[in-house]
Amino acid sequence: MTAAITNIEDLRVLAEKRVPRMFYDYADSGSWTESTYRANTTDFARIKFRQRVAVNMENRSLRTTMVGQPVAMPVALAPTGLTGMQHADGEILAARAAEKAGVPFTLSTMSICSIEDVAENTSAPFWFQLYVLKDRVIIHRLIDRAKAAKCSALVLTLDLQVLGQRHKDIKNGLSAPPRLTLPNILNMMTKPRWCMGMLGTKRRHFGNIVGHAESVTDMSSLSSWTAQQFDPALSWDDVQWIKEKWGGKLIVKGIIDAEDARLAVQSGADALIVSNHGGRQLDGAQSSIEALPAIMDAVGDSIEVHLDSGIRSGQDVLKALALGAKGTYIGRAFLYGLGAMGEAGVSKALEIIQRELDISMAFCGHTDIRKVDRSILVPGTY
Ligand code: GLV
Repeated sequence: MTAAITNIEDLRVLAEKRVPRMFYDYADSGSWTESTYRANTTDFARIKFRQRVAVNMENRSLRTTMVGQPVAMPVALAPTGLTGMQHADGEILAARAAEKAGVPFTLSTMSICSIEDVAENTSAPFWFQLYVLKDRVIIHRLIDRAKAAKCSALVLTLDLQVLGQRHKDIKNGLSAPPRLTLPNILNMMTKPRWCMGMLGTKRRHFGNIVGHAESVTDMSSLSSWTAQQFDPALSWDDVQWIKEKWGGKLIVKGIIDAEDARLAVQSGADALIVSNHGGRQLDGAQSSIEALPAIMDAVGDSIEVHLDSGIRSGQDVLKALALGAKGTYIGRAFLYGLGAMGEAGVSKALEIIQRELDISMAFCGHTDIRKVDRSILVPGTY
């Protein structure tokens, strides 16, 4: 009998037991010394709430909108690579859990289940995350496919022209599907649930790319694939033509500097995501929550601001909202749930965060998430 799961850390511990080492490590690591990866969570912990009492806490609501779309709470599932390697059919399961919870699911370009596969197996529109690859034909096709699948927002990632080095991925020989080396086989033998799931699915490759992009020849390792395919020359002009080609809601992801935030406003994007890619790119960069106040000062309400990187609880969500974000994303927090228990684990992660957010908002004297602002925080702690 499994002990009661009461927080995201419980899901992480279970995922670590159930997911093969190379995929668990892929999710749960940052670049180089991991200092930014750690700062993403420790900087949240430093911020303090003002607890209020004897305020009527009945009839609370977490409902709001993200890029004009109604959400049950301002928490979307972040685009995460290789989600279908944390658990068989991972993207479809996570999208279903998001749909049930009434929050957006974002499918990564680097997903295992393809855009079409997720669309066929879910009914709510999801968001699609796009990487800018050198081969513009692939991008045009990906945008057309996301439109055909009725994706309701495009999340354009701007911070992965080059890949930050994650030591463990190199040491583990990360690949999808995993190569059948002796260490991998021995490790997988200790993960019978995962193996059973994988034996029962055909979805074991990068579904958006394999069979769709002739020019992509080497997908065996993530680092060689990104070095070969991702466009180091990406510029704001690309954002322009992608915005025009897409024609729908556009969210630019990976902004951590106030000057870039101003450029994001000029680009005409509907929203920007303050993000350091979960501490996976520039080690030594500011944490997202530390960068948020200066970005809010730079852009005011001229663009909707979202935030990811470091969110492991509803309290973290509340702090980001207090500092001006209108929406947040969880990456690892849902991946742990997925690796631990499949769709039920993602639902569990969302329930945990929803409850923490609801109760913490009440402690701060609020009943409507849309009204939360900096006044719920102790000055000097952010
Ligand atoms: C891809 O987005 C990664 O961070 O590995």
